[in-house]
Amino acid sequence: MTEVAKNGTWGNDRPIGVAVLGMGNVGTEVVRILRDHADDLRSRVGAPVVLRGVAVRSLDKDRGLPADLLTTDAAALVAREDVDLVVEVIGGIDPARGLILAALNAGKSVVSANKALLADYTGELAAAAERNRADLYFEAAVAGAIPVVRPLIQSLSGDRVNRVVGIVNGTTNFILSAMDETGADYSATLAEATRLGYAEADPTADVEGYDAAAKAAILASLAFHTRVTAADVYREGISKITAEDLETASAVNCTVKLLAICERVAGEPSPEEGGKERVSVRVYPALIPRKHPLAAVSGAFNAVVVEAENAGRLMFYGQGAGGAPTASAVLGDLVMAARNKFYGGRAPGESVYAELPIAPIGDTPTRYHVNLQVEDRPGVLAKVAGEFAKHGVSISTVRQEGHGEGARLVVVTHHAVESALADTVAALAEMASVTSVTSVLRLEGTEE
Ligand code: NDP
Ligand code: HSE
Repeated sequence: MTEVAKNGTWGNDRPIGVAVLGMGNVGTEVVRILRDHADDLRSRVGAPVVLRGVAVRSLDKDRGLPADLLTTDAAALVAREDVDLVVEVIGGIDPARGLILAALNAGKSVVSANKALLADYTGELAAAAERNRADLYFEAAVAGAIPVVRPLIQSLSGDRVNRVVGIVNGTTNFILSAMDETGADYSATLAEATRLGYAEADPTADVEGYDAAAKAAILASLAFHTRVTAADVYREGISKITAEDLETASAVNCTVKLLAICERVAGEPSPEEGGKERVSVRVYPALIPRKHPLAAVSGAFNAVVVEAENAGRLMFYGQGAGGAPTASAVLGDLVMAARNKFYGGRAPGESVYAELPIAPIGDTPTRYHVNLQVEDRPGVLAKVAGEFAKHGVSISTVRQEGHGEGARLVVVTHHAVESALADTVAALAEMASVTSVTSVLRLEGTEE
């Protein structure tokens, strides 16, 4: 091998020792790539990258690895002197958090795919990395193989990001795409997603939007240089979406997607906030026009659209989940961290200087698609329209479908704040001439 020129103090033959914590879907692929591509990795890093050990919960499974590489004592593996870099792909908060902190406090760099942990503890982990001059990388935590963390942290660090909108959960996108394509209902499609291995045995984190909310928190923190945690994200899942909702969407040339939306919104001129711009971070199912670029993202794929003041609109698309795609992002980080060891560089630290306040969902402007079952007689439309006007919600279009007992009104609004729309819907539900408010769906991705 040719000698690599460098500035740091790492000897060219001194290996960079790697510990992998977890050997499930992602860890298995990380270990495979580390072993299969050892020569390429050595050339790309400048020094050999050597797998020192893999921590798992159970030693009973056949992992296709020499027994002496496997351990159930993750803490001891992290503490080994010949481990320089730790890959955490266990998931969850504990013991992952303690293991990562132990690694960082010992000056070892960490690569993690753990969105649940990073959404809530990036501050603590980044501070430990900073104190100990170690690196913390987490490209795989958002949208699997798709490079979106690094573009936000590095490529766009000279620009001003105004909005990030994405489909960041593969399981729910698979379910909504299948409902759209086949007309099947939610439960049947979830069962199919489970059978195909997209949805886990307990699909709550995916279908109720927790997974997407964690990713939204990470994206918003990076985009707006503000610490946003999962608790700051307004969240609704897809479990209440019906086949009728998809039909309604189709009738207006839209489809339904679970969107993670992070955007700057104008600040309140209140003395506390001093008119400071705010950040709105939310995850919910919404109608989007079929011609919108995110409408074409089907199956388990993910996509993220970033709008920046100077770069304009950028779109990132690809596989947001799965062992090998996620491991690709982990390995990218691992090479960066290993190069930093070899050449003496550092990963960018956390940037939260802007400290923008979080806008409550009630203050967030969105368009709505409201479906009402109504009595079909003169004056009903005027009364319904009057209720929208009373609450300051401007109507864009109204369509009547059916007549007599089956009469329906479909109202599409201009942008209105959530609280005004909620008050309107509550008032409509009380009206004698409104039999039921059949559905209220947000409408995103329109120019208006
Ligand atoms: P899995 O559940 O498939 O694997 C988890 C692994 O961690 C298993 O090997 C398990 O051991 C091991 N483990 C659990 N507890 C311990 C412990 N106390 N000590 C040592 N090892 C332990 O998870 P995934 O591979 O799917 O996900 C890993 C991480 O990657 C998560 O943070 C996830 O959110 C993230 N991620 C996953 C994606 C995916 O598509 N799967 C996509 C993007 C991110 P054992 O095998 O013995 O049970
Ligand atoms: N459960 C996640 C999904 C895995 O369905 O997208 C990737 O984070």
